[in-house]
Amino acid sequence: MAGDIFPAREAIALMDEVDLSPPIEVPLIPASAFPENISREEREFLRAEIARLKKERNALILAHNYMPPDVQDVADAIGDSLYLAQQGTASDADVLCEAAVLFMNQILAIMARPHQKVLAPSLEALCSLAAHADVNKIRAWKREHSDGVVISYVNTYVDVKAESDYCCASANSAKVIKYVIEHEPGRPILFLPDVYLGFYAAKLLEKMGEPLDRLFLMMGACHVHDRIKPHHVEEQRRLHPGAAAVIHPECGCTSACMRQIASGMVPEEMMQFRSTQGMIKFVRETPEQTVIVATEIGNIHPMSKAAPEKKLIPANPEAVCAFMKQNTLRGVYESLRDLKYEITVDRDLAERARKPIERMLSIV
Ligand code: 13P
Ligand code: SF4
Repeated sequence: MAGDIFPAREAIALMDEVDLSPPIEVPLIPASAFPENISREEREFLRAEIARLKKERNALILAHNYMPPDVQDVADAIGDSLYLAQQGTASDADVLCEAAVLFMNQILAIMARPHQKVLAPSLEALCSLAAHADVNKIRAWKREHSDGVVISYVNTYVDVKAESDYCCASANSAKVIKYVIEHEPGRPILFLPDVYLGFYAAKLLEKMGEPLDRLFLMMGACHVHDRIKPHHVEEQRRLHPGAAAVIHPECGCTSACMRQIASGMVPEEMMQFRSTQGMIKFVRETPEQTVIVATEIGNIHPMSKAAPEKKLIPANPEAVCAFMKQNTLRGVYESLRDLKYEITVDRDLAERARKPIERMLSIV
């Protein structure tokens, strides 16, 4: 089923039944991704060396919110995919060392200036959601819908972005989808690869009085977020009555939770859909003291730093992204020391992918 495209109505009817398991092998998490496996001496050595190399190389370290805490702690910028792209492209540093996943590194490589080198501490940091997006299926859809518009979520590789008209990140997906609905009237829209976010796009179309048959969805999902199911959120809400819930829209519970809000079962302010960065803002701003967090558990680290007084409950404590955790403190050190692994992108693909990425960066 991986990567299949359906009219939205069919995709929505199917999405809770199809096999959305990862189309790629999930790696083991290296032992050194767990802070307890690094001695104090080693950590101090690595931190000092990273600080020294950062100056020597004129480097900027960027870290995604899901990074192990000790990687986040040496970073100059920590955030969601959109924020990292914004920070990286605004920087004049000679080296951009980004502890994240490959599709995020590729965005920097596409947008970097000629003097800038983009480094990834690991080449194993892929993404199961991005692996669902098959460029040949997009080309086939475009042949059938010559006036079609393709919106690809940020979790896609450069070949898919090069076939797309717009990109969006979780932080601005609603804005980009709304923009496309308004500015591309009547044209068929393909949203890919996340079917849960696609459901969200469908709800937006309906709310704006647009026919749903304009929308096509790809049946992809992230294997980590897909496993955060409605029963996980329900169970935590039962155990923590009065707790607010903040949910990444890639979660397997997205459609059920959105239906609960729409039916008035849960007040909107008590259940919000946000990017990883938006979740941090939410926990800082909500008056609620207990918050159920439906995303990869790494996000709890920056959330608890932002609001140390709040009680944060992972909806599913097993939601761990082994791809993100390929980035370790030692990996960041070796990356700066040996200038590895340099991420480069084919010139022609980069040229074609630039426009949808620029649109993503400008519709905020
Ligand atoms: P963000 O854009 O919220 O960082 O999400 C990216 C991602 O891979 C979430 O799993
Ligand atoms: Fe990809 Fe999921 Fe990992 Fe995010 S959490 S990088 S979507 S596999």
